Amino acid sequence: MEVKTSLLDNMIGVGDMVLLEPLNEDSFIENLRKRFDHNEIYTYIGSVVISMNPYRSLPIFTPEKVEEYRNRNFYELSPHIYALADEAYRSLRDQDKDQCILITGESGAGKTEASKLVMSYVAAVCGKGQEVNKVKEQLLQSNPVLEAFGNAKTVRNDNSSRFGKYMDIEFDFKGDPLGGVISNYLLEKSRVCKQPRGERNFHIFYQLLSGASGDTLTKLKLDRDFSKYNYLSLDSATVSGLDDAASFRTVRNAMQIVGFMEDEVQSVLELVAAVLKLGNIEFKPESRVNGFDESRVKDKNDLKEMCELLGIEQSVLERAFSYRTVEAKMEKVSTTLNVAQAYYARDALAKNLYSRLFSWLVTRINESIKAQAKTRHKVMGVLDIYGFEIFEDNSFEQFIINYCNEKLQQIFIELTLREEQEEYVREGIEWTNIEYFNNAVICDLIENNQNGILAMLDEECLRPGTVTDDTFLDKLNTICAEHQHFESRLSKNSKFLTDHSLPHSCFRIQHYAGKVLYRVEGFVDKNNDLLYRDLSQAMYKATHSLMRQLFPEGNPAKVNLKRPPTAGFQFKASVGGLMRNLQTKNPNYIRCIKPNDKKASHIFTDSLVCHQVRYLGLMENVRVRRAGYAFRQPYEPCLERYKMLCRQTWPHWRGPARDGVEVLLIDCSVPAEEFAYGRSKIFIRNPRTLFTLEERRRACLQDLATLIQKIYRGWKCRTHFILLKKSQVVVAAWYRRYAQQKKYEKIKRATLVMQSFTRGWKARKILRQLKYEKRCKEAVTTIAAYWHGTEARRELRCLKEEARRKHAVAVIWAYWRGLQVRREYRKFFRANAGKKIYCFIIQRIMQKYFLGLKTTMPSMSPIDNTWSAQPYSFLEGAHTELRRIFHFWRCKKHRGQFTEEKKAVYEEKLEASEIFKDKKALYPSSVSQPFKGDYLEIQKNPKYQKLNSAVEEKVLLADVVNKINRANGKGSPRLFLLTKSNFVLADQKTGQVKASVPLPDLTSVSVSTQSDGFFALKLKEGSASAAKGDFLLSSEHLIEIITKLHRTGTTAADKDQINIDISDEFLVQFKQDKVCVKFIQGGPKNGTSAACKRKNNRLLEVSVPSSP
Ligand SMILES: Nc1ncnc2c1ncn2[C@@H]1O[C@H](COP(=O)(O)OP(=O)(O)OP(=O)(O)O)[C@@H](O)[C@H]1O
Ligand SMILES: [Mg+2]
Repeated sequence: MEVKTSLLDNMIGVGDMVLLEPLNEDSFIENLRKRFDHNEIYTYIGSVVISMNPYRSLPIFTPEKVEEYRNRNFYELSPHIYALADEAYRSLRDQDKDQCILITGESGAGKTEASKLVMSYVAAVCGKGQEVNKVKEQLLQSNPVLEAFGNAKTVRNDNSSRFGKYMDIEFDFKGDPLGGVISNYLLEKSRVCKQPRGERNFHIFYQLLSGASGDTLTKLKLDRDFSKYNYLSLDSATVSGLDDAASFRTVRNAMQIVGFMEDEVQSVLELVAAVLKLGNIEFKPESRVNGFDESRVKDKNDLKEMCELLGIEQSVLERAFSYRTVEAKMEKVSTTLNVAQAYYARDALAKNLYSRLFSWLVTRINESIKAQAKTRHKVMGVLDIYGFEIFEDNSFEQFIINYCNEKLQQIFIELTLREEQEEYVREGIEWTNIEYFNNAVICDLIENNQNGILAMLDEECLRPGTVTDDTFLDKLNTICAEHQHFESRLSKNSKFLTDHSLPHSCFRIQHYAGKVLYRVEGFVDKNNDLLYRDLSQAMYKATHSLMRQLFPEGNPAKVNLKRPPTAGFQFKASVGGLMRNLQTKNPNYIRCIKPNDKKASHIFTDSLVCHQVRYLGLMENVRVRRAGYAFRQPYEPCLERYKMLCRQTWPHWRGPARDGVEVLLIDCSVPAEEFAYGRSKIFIRNPRTLFTLEERRRACLQDLATLIQKIYRGWKCRTHFILLKKSQVVVAAWYRRYAQQKKYEKIKRATLVMQSFTRGWKARKILRQLKYEKRCKEAVTTIAAYWHGTEARRELRCLKEEARRKHAVAVIWAYWRGLQVRREYRKFFRANAGKKIYCFIIQRIMQKYFLGLKTTMPSMSPIDNTWSAQPYSFLEGAHTELRRIFHFWRCKKHRGQFTEEKKAVYEEKLEASEIFKDKKALYPSSVSQPFKGDYLEIQKNPKYQKLNSAVEEKVLLADVVNKINRANGKGSPRLFLLTKSNFVLADQKTGQVKASVPLPDLTSVSVSTQSDGFFALKLKEGSASAAKGDFLLSSEHLIEIITKLHRTGTTAADKDQINIDISDEFLVQFKQDKVCVKFIQGGPKNGTSAACKRKNNRLLEVSVPSSP
């Protein structure tokens, strides 16, 4: 359950000053101090938040705190700046009211911090999303950039805002931020050139020199040493607690997030560097003929570097520091500048350059953060303007700053009062006016168009003639002397006789926040804000684009002779615009108070706080708030808070809340004059009444707590008892159930045992009975089977006997019939049947034999010796005969295929076979050699032409043979030719016929049985041829030669057949002698052919190699 708290719970002092009792200055300050001591830095005056600067970080700005205050009513929690921010944001989002948050207070009171807290709170509670987060981040990151360039350390504040800032944050209808617009008000630019003692120039100068890298500094032609720059005061260059280097990194990062391009950042830093360089330019006088001094730049190094940085021609700038051109109505007059004027010009340039750079930064940030969507925006403005300042030496800037604060105070008074009044009118409550100090009179003193100080200053600046600050003061003295808030030595109102603190050349204004003494020196110049045209033109000539942008009036094409508006005039106009803007919005006030002047935590200086309380008009604020009614609250929350004080409203009131509050107040006997009923709120006049109500509520709450406690305890005990009782019943029930269950299970088990015994006994009995019956049945069946068996077997035996008898009868009868038939047919049957059966069987066998033979016939090759086996021995003769017939038949078939030539060859071969087969060992080797006949191709070969012509007949055989010499047994080659009628031996080389023997002269031929080629041609004794004796020859074609000789001899009809004598020893007739030629087995050792050797006169021995 959500715990509802209230501002009034655990309050330290009084959270809302309206409730302070008694109300006086002391109690007010005391309340602030009490709360401050307990770290309660925020206190309300109604809806206004008073913020005390704690000067230390407190753990009250955590994300948890943000969550705590989110969507909570203003008075629900203890005072906090978040409550105000939440109220403003929700009213913007839910009620569509533009809001402004006005943060006021003197310098160092915490305005800037407060504005950042408000922004961060709003950023945390509003919508989320990538785009929205980017917008938020850019809005938040604009702060470090502007603070670096616009804040500086002053004696009052180490981070004092030296410009006024008003930021409009724009939201869409959902309350998501869309963007923002920043307006800046009058930067205190005099600080660029000169800082009061104990103060610093703007932060950025120190940050740049401490935080930039060596490279960057070299590029910017800067040195890290602060002491090298005239514009940087040295006595407080470093501030404790401020890390300039780290801040520089933060600023660069922030610039990147906001959307500055890298070259833009570089340009900005170059201009900052240029300002520093400018401060270092010094001048010396140079005497002229006319007796005047003219300024000259002393050391041109810095000038040169600055010109290089900005891309300005050095001579142009140098001249601008020595001369000044005045243009008037088409006339140009050039005058020289003395040293003082040159310094003035230099400082004016530096101030202008810096302040224009600052304005450009604001414009550039605005470009980045401006809302993209064109829809209607809701706006929340946050105003953080420089605080009211009283220095020892106050000048034009302080005057302007304090004027701005006067205007803000006025708007505060007006709006607070009007808001209050409007609320009473809205709620229908009677209202009586309350007196308060209205600072309109001071505003009028400053801004009145006729005789206001600013108007007079402008008048003085524009007046022709000699114008000095003193003439301006004189004017003030005459015109404002009567004014009760203006003092000067010469004014009628002056108290210089008693008040010696009022020096010459000064005037004093009694501001709402105190008297401030202004030194009039510099007012005219600062208001004029004069920059010599020569300088702006020189700047415009720069190649640095940002520089040119900052000095548009330097453009010679746009020379404007009109004076620019004065600084005071501009500021008045912009403040006027701001005030009008603020008046259109719903204001939310944060009044910042600084507790001490030492920037220290835990110190509360009464006098200082009292002073601020006074001039901020806080007491009046409380009084106005309380004049009518000190406390107001809508009816619903009021009834919710106090409903326990009345029986009718407790615990619930059914009906309108207003009636409930009425009943409640009457019941509480609150006097009628103490409250008033508004339309939606109850107004309580006296805080005491509220406290009484609160007191009664507290007491009532205690009673209620006791009651609740009592009822709760009673309820708890009762519930406990009931629970115990219920539990006991449940336990008892469960136990009884358990016991019964046990008993039941025991009985059940016993029953089951008995049951099973009984059932067993019964079953066994029945089983016995059944078994007996079964045995009886089986016995009967067995007896019947035996009986039937006996019967059947007997019957079977009878049947078998009968069958045997029948069979015997049939056999006997058949035999008998057979006998009779055989007797009857014997004579026919035996004579023919035997023969026929035999023939038939024989036929059948023959048929089978021939058919079988047909399938097993051998091939048609005559040399195939296969023949099927003989199936029956009685067919042996036929089988062999058939084989022989088949062989002849197939030989005949084979022969039938031969041509005549082939036939002759085969006939020769056949003849050779008849002569030599099995007789001469040479024969088998000759079978495969074809008989060629004419080995010498005698007709074709021209070598034998002569021989050919000598032989008239056809040559049957022509070959080379060896003629064996009887003297040594050696052979000499001879051509051997055979014709039909004779054979011829001729010389192998010459072809000359050695011997031509007619065949009839040849009687026989002798050859050996061995494998040699020797043969002897024996001639008929007494013939003419025989004169030279027989021929012993040898030839490789012995078989063919002999066969052909034999054949030719056989075919010649007129002669006898030539004998072929085959024996290993024969006689050869050489002329007179007969020589025996003997063939022996085993030839010469190394030879493969037979060798003939003469053994003696009568014996030639031929050794034939044994056949392998
Ligand atoms: N809520 C806070 N918590 C912690 N410190 C704070 C708080 N508010 C202010 N301070 C401290 O006080 C210093 C001054 O505050 P801040 O700069 O906000 O003053 P200011 O009112 O803006 O002054 P000026 O008018 O000179 O700009 C801060 O630098 C910070 O140290
Ligand atoms: Mg500030």
